[in-house]
Amino acid sequence: MDEKELLIFQKGNNSTHTNFIPKLDIEIEKLENIIPRNLLRDDIPIPDVSEVEIVRHYIKLSRMNYGVDSGIYPLGSCTMKYNPKINEYVARLAEFSQIHPLQEENEGTLQLINAISVLLAEITGMDGFTLQPAAGAHGELVGLLIIKKYFEMKGVKKNKIIVPDSAHGTNPASAKMAGFSIIELQSNQNGEVPLDHLEFAMQQGDVAGIMLTNPNTLGVFDREILKITKIVHKHGGLCYYDGANLNPMLGICRPRDMGFDIVHLNLHKTFSTPHGGGGPGSGPVGVIKELIPFLPTPCIITTDEGLVCTQDRDHSIGRIKAFWGNFGIIVRAYVYILSLGAEGLKRVGQIAVLNANYLRIQLQKKYYLPYDRICKHEFVLTDKNLPNEVTTEDIAKRILDYGYYAPTIYFPLIVNGAMMVEPTETESKKSLDNFIEAMYKIYDEAFNEPDRLKSAPLNTPVGRLDAVNAARNPILKE
Ligand SMILES: Cc1ncc(COP(=O)(O)O)c(C=O)c1O
Repeated sequence: MDEKELLIFQKGNNSTHTNFIPKLDIEIEKLENIIPRNLLRDDIPIPDVSEVEIVRHYIKLSRMNYGVDSGIYPLGSCTMKYNPKINEYVARLAEFSQIHPLQEENEGTLQLINAISVLLAEITGMDGFTLQPAAGAHGELVGLLIIKKYFEMKGVKKNKIIVPDSAHGTNPASAKMAGFSIIELQSNQNGEVPLDHLEFAMQQGDVAGIMLTNPNTLGVFDREILKITKIVHKHGGLCYYDGANLNPMLGICRPRDMGFDIVHLNLHKTFSTPHGGGGPGSGPVGVIKELIPFLPTPCIITTDEGLVCTQDRDHSIGRIKAFWGNFGIIVRAYVYILSLGAEGLKRVGQIAVLNANYLRIQLQKKYYLPYDRICKHEFVLTDKNLPNEVTTEDIAKRILDYGYYAPTIYFPLIVNGAMMVEPTETESKKSLDNFIEAMYKIYDEAFNEPDRLKSAPLNTPVGRLDAVNAARNPILKE
C-alpha cells in the first residue's frame, strides 16, 4: 500500500454540526500489515465544526497559555529568555527545514555545523566540539563516557566522580549512567566547593575527576575555580564543566581558561531556542585537544575536496545520536551568535548578571536570601521569614494570579523552601519592577490575607491542583 492510498479518506456530510466519522478507504487487513492491530482505532471521532469555530477554539486555548512571549518567565536554571524571531525564521527556511535527514551531510549543512563548532570553541576556549547530543543531560553523558574511555585507554582504573551538592540534578544521574559512582561534596557556607574536602576526596586515587555546575544552582560563581581544577589535575583527574547556564559568562570568561577539559552547553537555553516540556534540546560538548580523538563519530574534517564527514576517529565513543543532533536548534544558535557578534554576546552576559542582581537586591528587602552575595544569572530566596505558615508553594501559585510565571521552587535541594529566580537579560527594568511590585504585594498578603495565598491561584483557568495525588495516581487519558 502506498502513502496515497493511506491518505484517501471518505468524508461524510459535514454541513451539520454533528460529529462525523471519516472512513478510511482501505481494507483493515491491509492496514494491519503496516500498523499493529492494537494501535489501530476503529473510528476517528473528529468534530464537524466550521472554520470560525476552530479558529476561536485555538485562539481561546492560546490565551490560556503562558510563555516568554507573554511576559517575564523567571524560572531558575532554565534561562527562559525572549528568543528573537529572526532565528526562528531562518531555521524554518525550506532549505534548512525540508532537508531529508540523510541530506544533512551535504556541503552546506556541514559548513554550518563546522562554522558553529568553531564559534562555540571560541566562546568556551575548547579545541573541538560535537553537536550530536540532544539535550544538556545527554551532553553530560557524552562527556562522562569520554572521561571513562580516556582512562580505559590509559589503563588506569578510575570509577568515581566528584559532584558537589550544589550541582544540577542531572550531573550525578549522568555520571551514574556512564558507570561511575558518585562522591558528593557538601558546599561550604558560601555555596562553594570546600577545597580541603576536594583534596581529601581526590587522594583516594580512583577518582576520575569533578563535574562542576558553574555558576552553580545557587546562582553563584565558585571563586576558587582555578584552585579546584588545579587540585583535580594534580591528582590525575579531569574537570567537567556543566555549562548549561553559560548565559551570564558569555564573552566574559571561558571554561577552558578556568582549567576545564570538557564542557557541555545548552543551545536551547543560552543560544536562543525556546524550551520546555522536556525538549527538544541540543547539548553540544566541547573538549581540549587531547580528548578530540574520543568525540562521537561521524565528525567533519577538511580535505582538498572541502568538508567531508568521516567515521575516522581513533578512540571515539561512537555515534550517540542519529544524524547531526537537533539541526533546527543548531541553525537558531548559529543565527543568534552571528547576529549578536562578540560584543553582543558579552552584553548578554553583563545584562543577565545586572538584571539578576537588581532583582536580588529588591526582593531581598522582603524575602530571605540564604546566600547573601553577588549572584550571576539567578539567586535563591526562601519562605523562611514569612508569617502564617505561608509557604514557597503559596507564593509560586499566587504569582500566577498576578499574570507571571513562577520561579523554580524547592530546588536546589540544599536550600529549604527554595525559590530560584532567573530574570534573564531580555527583561527591561520596567518589566523587572512590575514583577518586584507583584512580589511585594504577595509579601503583604502573607501578613494580611494568608488564606488568599493558600488557595491561590484564583484567576487562572485551572485552580490549585492536588500535585501529590496527581503524581501518585496520574490519570493518563485524553
Ligand atoms: C545546570 C544545568 N545542567 C544540566 C541541565 C540539563 O539540561 P537538559 O534539560 O537539556 O537535559 C540543566 C537544565 O536546564 C541545567 O540547568
